[in-house]
Amino acid sequence: MSADIDYARYDRIRPIRWTGDALELLDQRKLPFVVEYLSCRTSDEVAAAIHALAVRGAPAIGIAAAWGVVLATRAIDSDDVTDAASKLEPALQRLNAARPTAVNLAWALARMRAALARAGADWRDALEREARAIDTEDLAANRRMGALGAALIEPGSGVLTHCNTGSLATAGFGTALGVIRAGVAQGRIDEVFAGETRPWLQGARLTVWELQQDGIDATLIADAAASHLMKTGKVQWVVVGADRICANGDTANKIGTYQLAIAAKHHGVKVMVVAPSSTVDMATASGDLIEIEERDPGELHGIGGTRTVAEGIGAWNPVFDVTPHDLIDAIVTEKGVIEHPDAASMRAAFGA
Ligand code: MRU
Repeated sequence: MSADIDYARYDRIRPIRWTGDALELLDQRKLPFVVEYLSCRTSDEVAAAIHALAVRGAPAIGIAAAWGVVLATRAIDSDDVTDAASKLEPALQRLNAARPTAVNLAWALARMRAALARAGADWRDALEREARAIDTEDLAANRRMGALGAALIEPGSGVLTHCNTGSLATAGFGTALGVIRAGVAQGRIDEVFAGETRPWLQGARLTVWELQQDGIDATLIADAAASHLMKTGKVQWVVVGADRICANGDTANKIGTYQLAIAAKHHGVKVMVVAPSSTVDMATASGDLIEIEERDPGELHGIGGTRTVAEGIGAWNPVFDVTPHDLIDAIVTEKGVIEHPDAASMRAAFGA
């Protein structure tokens, strides 16, 4: 079994491209049938793209926001760094407000603010360097997590994933999907199942398409088929990403992750959360303190723009849920693996 991964084969998609004067985002609202980049030339266009899910996935929205700050500098005429910082702040606030649950967004903006605070007269270049660093560090973290997470998976295993955590959701390679790519490349994973991920269908529209680009077969299931699948014994791990991991290991991720973890516990299937340390939020003690984004109930009223529900029906559309840490077998970050996470093991790994 080789630990080497052919990244040219297993890492083909780039959702975020910086051209020097625009940010190009692979428009995830249009996939899989239209592969088209949306060009953003202002930070407000980036904020709107994040809000509208043209770019999505916790690490990807952090990276996009960092480049959004670089775009915001183009509208600042001051050479003085302190003056520039105060003039940039409203744009940073608008980027931060684009989505509430993934901590990577606030984390990336905090890094950009800190880079600005350290900078001198070259503050424009310093911000561009920082955005590039956030991007390249994410790719490196994903490759490292791929190796760490795959090592936990016994050869011959089946895995079930949820939402899209791949190249599309990151700088490249992916978090949970990176582990799955590495596990397939190393011959550990025999079968990959992906849940549709109602209502936005990240699994059906993005994950199985993304794996297909690498030549990895994945079997799509209805979200509601997950317990039935686990009962057949075909999956040994649920492998998912995260939008925010709290100080006690509680993890916010795409709606439906919590019920997968409950079902996994019942069937003796293990749960692996894979996320870069930029998703760890040691300032939030536990999952009940996380703001859960609620989106347009209209997402539940139809599919692909066609109404499927009678007029006048109300709907509730929280798009994330929180999996309590005691349902998680392993949290994998680029810094290492935390088995059976709790407040003590999180503190040991990430400090106070
Ligand atoms: O609403 P989305 O599509 O941005 O939600 C994405 C998820 O929940 C992912 O699982 C998470 O951000 C991790 S992506 C590497």
